[in-house]
Formats: sequence, structure tokens, C-alpha cells
Amino acid sequence: MNVHNAQFTGWRWQSHDGAFQTMRRLIVNPSVERLHTPVLLQEVLDLLRPRPEGKYLDCTVGVGGHAEAILERSRPGGMLYGIDRDAEAVALAREHLGRFEGRVTLVHGDFRDVNRIATEQGWGSFDGVLFDLGISSHQLSDPERGFSFLHDGPLDMRMDRSSVGKTAAELVAKLSESELSSILWKYGEERWARRITKAIVKAREREPIVSTRQLKELVEKSIPRPAWPRKIHPATRTFQALRIATNDELTGLGLAIEEAIGLLKPGGRIVVISFHSLEDRIVKETFRRLHQAEQPSLHLLTRKPLVPSQEERERNPRCRSAKLRAAERLGNP
Ligand SMILES: C[S@@+](CC[C@H](N)C(=O)[O-])C[C@H]1O[C@@H](n2cnc3c(N)ncnc32)[C@H](O)[C@@H]1O
Repeated sequence: MNVHNAQFTGWRWQSHDGAFQTMRRLIVNPSVERLHTPVLLQEVLDLLRPRPEGKYLDCTVGVGGHAEAILERSRPGGMLYGIDRDAEAVALAREHLGRFEGRVTLVHGDFRDVNRIATEQGWGSFDGVLFDLGISSHQLSDPERGFSFLHDGPLDMRMDRSSVGKTAAELVAKLSESELSSILWKYGEERWARRITKAIVKAREREPIVSTRQLKELVEKSIPRPAWPRKIHPATRTFQALRIATNDELTGLGLAIEEAIGLLKPGGRIVVISFHSLEDRIVKETFRRLHQAEQPSLHLLTRKPLVPSQEERERNPRCRSAKLRAAERLGNP
């Protein structure tokens, strides 16, 4: 993955055009007041305990919601280092965190390269590390990104649009029926996976499936109306599954968490928020392995994952599947 700092010079942002357009639209559009509401914020702060001389690494800085709170809590000298694979998110975070000048370093990159990034940038070790997995509201609500069935747009779904990775439309066009079906089943727990996939394969023989609307309508037609889920749109699981596959979100996650733990000072803490049962399982198993090793390098701070309160779920329904696990680095290697 190519790591570079996205650069702002006033209104000009030297990155690819799509990102610049999104940036401009988000800033100019007055209805976009909040780009993302940070999930389990108080719990993150209680666990990371930011302090004035602390150094914190946010591996999924997004638009900087958690980062902002960490910087506030660690005034006046706390330092925040942030990574995101979405160049638009990095640019928005840079803007959002502008007032903390001199205390923030942001890099466009993949957290699976966290060790290399930290070494190349000379970041040293940290008092706290945060992973807040998945996507942010600003990504979800931008039709051009193709993450959501709520708006029509190109079926893209790549978090990193500067990458050579395949779009969701390319996966839908090229994967075999059984590959697609297993993606919907495994990542979306979609019990209608085979019917949906059959409909996709039939439809793509007629015309390419390139828009979120086309895919949404295919899913709606494939699931019998009485079997539609009551609390979520019937296309939710299909879209989630395709997003995970498009971005290969689970590969290397455990290793990245382990590398990030390796960057903690003794007594430093790691907090991971996941939104999918397979992600949570990877986090749990990685923590458990390091905790149960002959020379443990980790002390678990959460035996069971923390979940959002009823009040937070009502205020921010997007947090409903969040699970937080935290641990502390021990002195051993
Ligand atoms: C839930 S959002 C984070 C929101 C952030 N905590 C905030 O409060 O604004 C998740 C972010 O992780 C980024 N992301 C997902 N996978 C990544 C990866 N492998 N490397 C770097 N960033 C990643 C996404 O692009 C997205 O911006």
C-alpha cells in the first residue's frame, strides 16, 4: 500500500479528483453538520486515560471524532498519530483537527502496515492505540462511494479509491455464483444468499450490475416479502458482505492488532471497537493468545466486550452492533 500524507493548501487538496470533489461537497453542503458520531466515546476515554504528555495512535482515524476527544483530554502536550486507508477521511480529519496544530500527524495508509508506517515515520512507542473498525458515516452517506443502498450511485465500496483493488461492481461481475454466495453467507450471515446470488448471476447476463440501485432491487426481489427483516432493510446484509469482501477487511486484522500492541509502551493500552462478529472473534482470539502465552505480553481489561448503552443506541442507531475490547501491555516482550 502506498503511504503518503494527503496535503492541504487552503482549499486545494493535492490528491485525486474524486476525493477533492467529495471534500468540497461535504464542506459546502450545510446539511452535513456531523460527519460521524464517535462510538463508545466515554468508554474509549476511560480506558485510554489520555494524559498531557501521552502519545496516542489512532489506526482508523476516520474524520477524527475519537482523535479530537483524545487531543482535548491530553491538553496541552498530548500527541495524536492517525492512519486511515481512505484519503478523503484523512483530509477531513486534517481539517477537523486543525486547531491542534503541532500535536497531530496524519498518514494515508493501511493499518496492516502499521509497523512499517510507524518505523518510516519515526513515531516510536505509544501510551495508547485505538482501532475503530468498519466505515464512518461520511463514507456511508456519500452516494459516490457506493456503500449504501439508500442512495443510488456507482457500486464502488472501496475505502481506498487510490488503490488498484477491485470495486464491488467488479466482484459482482467476475466472481462465480458459489464464490458470491459464500461471501453473502459468511460476511453477511444472509440466509437468502443462494437466491440473491442466483438472481445476480441471471441479471448480469443481461446487463452489468454497476449501481447500488440495481443491486438493492435485485435483493428486494430475491427475498420473499413476508421474510423481509423487520428492523433492517433487506439489502443491509448483502451490502455489508460485499463491502467486507471488496476491502478484504478481515485478512491480516489479527496481525495488525498484534503489531500495534508491539508498539505500546509497557502499561500502554489498546482499545478495539468492532462491528461484526467475525471481527470481534479475531480481536478476542488475538488478545487471548497474547494473554495466555508462556510469557504473556497482555493483560485483559475487558473479559466480556463492552457494548453501547440503550441511550447511545437510541441516539446513534449505527452503533448498535459495536463491541469494545481493551487490554494493557505488560513489561514482557
Ligand atoms: C468507524 S470509522 C472511524 C471513525 C473515527 N473513529 C471517528 O471517530 O471519526 C473507520 C475508519 O477506518 C478506516 N479503515 C478501515 N480499514 C482500514 C485499514 N485497514 N487501514 C486503515 N484505515 C482503515 C475507514 O476508512 C474509516 O475511515
